[in-house]
Amino acid sequence: MKISPNPSWFYNEFRQVGTDFTDPTVVATYDRNQHSSTVEAEQALVEQLGITAGNTVIDLGCGTGTFAIQAALTGARVHAVDVSQPMLAYARQKAAAAGLSDRIQFHHQGFLSYNHNATPADFIVTQAALHHLPDFWKMVALLRIAAMLRPDGVFYLWDTVFSFPPSEFQAHIQTWMARAAKPMGGGWTVTDFETHVRDEYTTFGWILERMLEETGFVIETVERASSVITAYTCRKKCSS
Ligand SMILES: C[S@@+](CC[C@H](N)C(=O)[O-])C[C@H]1O[C@@H](n2cnc3c(N)ncnc32)[C@H](O)[C@@H]1O
Repeated sequence: MKISPNPSWFYNEFRQVGTDFTDPTVVATYDRNQHSSTVEAEQALVEQLGITAGNTVIDLGCGTGTFAIQAALTGARVHAVDVSQPMLAYARQKAAAAGLSDRIQFHHQGFLSYNHNATPADFIVTQAALHHLPDFWKMVALLRIAAMLRPDGVFYLWDTVFSFPPSEFQAHIQTWMARAAKPMGGGWTVTDFETHVRDEYTTFGWILERMLEETGFVIETVERASSVITAYTCRKKCSS
């Protein structure tokens, strides 16, 4: 889907919201803090999705590139996309160290600006990134993702997603922070979680699931890790 030229009301996705992923300190400590994105976890995801040599894979909001690197190790062609230049620079270095510079193309673009000028993707993955967009713009991003995938292609979405009863929001947010926050230097702190809840755009599962269906996906599996984290494996409807 192309919306061109971008109208003046279009969302500026390069402006950081919440955690500043252009801050070199945040980038340098990211792999230590983000326990969901270890090499082992990303390798397991590559296997779970069935990514193999010759596939075209897009990683939207690739961060430090751990998933992109594991996908590229299969022999897949990978497009790693992020709005943060420092994140991309860090991911490029990791890819070079793994001898994969020629297998991963890095793009300084985002959900709302990446133009996929290559073979339609077999797999699109986005982890811990879509919640940076407000809901209306998530919907635009999902339409664009559907347009980049081949018919029957797979879209994997892992993110903070609220799946508690709305009236219980305070207890679930507080339990999440008490369980997940680490002391300074050991991972994401209470302050980081507070920033996430206050300034970023995590939404409810029932909103996100309806958005996925309305934008051309069939949800095949839903893995709720907790009342604040969900992974969806979706397939693009053949007709969209
Ligand atoms: C929490 S990190 C997740 C990185 C990686 N996917 C992972 O699972 O570890 C979020 C990433 O999304 C990027 N991001 C934020 N808004 C974005 C957008 N509109 N389009 C693409 N990437 C975006 C940030 O720059 C950051 O690198």
